[in-house]
Amino acid sequence: MNNERVVVTGAAGFIGSHVCEALSARGASVLGVDCFDPYYARAIKEDNLCRLRASDAFALAELDITRTDELIAAMRGFGATGVIHLAAKAGVRPSIADPVGYAIANVVGTQSVLSASSACGCSRVVCASSSSLYGNNEKVPFSEGDAVEHPISPYASTKRSCELVGFTHHHLTGLAISMLRFFTVFGPRQRPDLAISLFLGRIARGEPIRMFGDGSMSRDFTYIDDIVGGVLRAYERTPGFGYRVWNLGGDHPMRLDELIATIGEVVGREPIIERAPMQAGDVDRTWADLTRSGSELGYSPKTAVREGIERQWAWMEPRLSLAGGG
Ligand SMILES: NC(=O)c1ccc[n+]([C@@H]2O[C@H](COP(=O)([O-])OP(=O)(O)OC[C@H]3O[C@@H](n4cnc5c(N)ncnc54)[C@H](O)[C@@H]3O)[C@@H](O)[C@H]2O)c1
Repeated sequence: MNNERVVVTGAAGFIGSHVCEALSARGASVLGVDCFDPYYARAIKEDNLCRLRASDAFALAELDITRTDELIAAMRGFGATGVIHLAAKAGVRPSIADPVGYAIANVVGTQSVLSASSACGCSRVVCASSSSLYGNNEKVPFSEGDAVEHPISPYASTKRSCELVGFTHHHLTGLAISMLRFFTVFGPRQRPDLAISLFLGRIARGEPIRMFGDGSMSRDFTYIDDIVGGVLRAYERTPGFGYRVWNLGGDHPMRLDELIATIGEVVGREPIIERAPMQAGDVDRTWADLTRSGSELGYSPKTAVREGIERQWAWMEPRLSLAGGG
């Protein structure tokens, strides 16, 4: 990675900040791009960037990826050789209230990143897609070749649209592009709106948590270090594939009720559960078939859910006390 000059969009976010650190550790120069979207607090994103800001190999451009001219200027100034595109509006449920905002940030944003990458002569773009685009497909595990024409939230439909935008851009320009379908990512710095982060905080404070549905909903939780490993492998190998979609999952789906019990054990408190109906836009289950990413990327997730939750809790607990328990 020594000669690589990599642009990482969404660098101040959960996955982006980890990817930037891993790239820097492998000798790449990194330009992070982020607009500090107000979906969650800027202070959390500044904390995510804390270690990176101290490194000479990292610089941050605060800009909105939909502003293509500004993006091209920043990428040219940096001398970008490749891009890892993670910026997005990322919540499933909030996308129902703001489908236009999601379409602009995610679909227009992705086209803007691809156009800027071509304008700057980049060799490849690796993009974040999502397991949510499998919708409520009956067949599990979900494979890259399965039909994905029935997404059930605006967020999922933007991610599917990004894949189509990516295919067309590759077809017309030859730019090597991959789409990584991440399956519920967790670990230190996890977005504060996601279940494990929310539940850890509420159970630790003795507050009730809401369990949507009967507890049988399940997710293929994937630890952040496994995702970062998969992203870096995809960055290395994308030029050999032209356009390619890969699943990056954990390969051990867990039911929601089992997840809540495990979090209670890790925190050392009995969860107080309030039952609520299933939420519109939520899929019943996810589970990644890793045959393709295993054989083509050498991807093999290593971290069990409980071990990952323990690590997330070790990172989160001191932050909760600093925030005065709130
Ligand atoms: N976390 C998961 O479980 C998960 C699962 C599937 C897919 N993904 C995808 O992975 C990527 C990263 O997710 P995350 O969990 O780290 O989310 P995140 O919200 O922590 O990070 C996304 C970052 O993108 C930035 N951003 C949003 N709109 C932007 C814009 N127009 N211009 C510049 N920056 C912008 C935000 O400020 C934020 O820092 C997203 O594309 C998301 O859709 C995440």
